[in-house]
Amino acid sequence: MPITIRPTRVPDISALQAIEAAGEARFRAIGMFADRGGPLPVETQDDHRRAIAGGLSFCADAEGQIVGFITGRMQADEAYLEQVDVLESHGRRGIGAALVGHFGDAARSLGARGVVLSTFRDVAWNGPFYARLGFEEIARADLTPWMLEIEAGQRPFLDVSRRCFMRRALP
Ligand SMILES: CC(C)(COP(=O)(O)OP(=O)(O)OC[C@H]1O[C@@H](n2cnc3c(N)ncnc32)[C@H](O)[C@@H]1OP(=O)(O)O)[C@@H](O)C(=O)NCCC(=O)NCCS
Repeated sequence: MPITIRPTRVPDISALQAIEAAGEARFRAIGMFADRGGPLPVETQDDHRRAIAGGLSFCADAEGQIVGFITGRMQADEAYLEQVDVLESHGRRGIGAALVGHFGDAARSLGARGVVLSTFRDVAWNGPFYARLGFEEIARADLTPWMLEIEAGQRPFLDVSRRCFMRRALP
């Protein structure tokens, strides 16, 4: 089935939220979040609207069915990749890599020098997935105040000791 990567539109937001919520099951399947009763919070409608307005929200559209998305925002002269999710039924076909590539192109055209993200270091479809796409871990001592602020916001929900920030320069 042909996949088109296109800018997200406001009416798409609830589909994106459902895809993000479904992605959590993968982490639970490998024993993560077992100590959490309820589901993790997903990006809010306002988060999505901001990403759309900022030109950093794209979805993978399979003839009308949204099967993946990527969102982010500019942070000074870097683009922060907030979220990328692909339905497991459509996984491992290069859609995630294509979304990350598309995001990088858009970020470059907005003036970003690099793409930064925060992820689980040792989960196969997190740190190693991004490393294959050219991202490198940022040393703890090099984390900027805005990155530390993001980490502080994650601490109530995620085991940040298992996470790292990664960056890929945009040539
Ligand atoms: C990360 C994610 C977006 C990748 O999407 P995708 O369309 O499957 O990505 P691609 O097909 O481009 O690349 C998949 C690669 O990820 C890794 N990967 C994905 N799923 C995996 C799994 N179940 N086990 C091991 N490696 C896996 C592999 O390196 C794989 O490459 P391969 O198929 O050649 O072995 C998708 O796995 C996802 O939505 N995960 C849940 C949400 C998430 O963790 N998002 C990132 C938050 S930082």
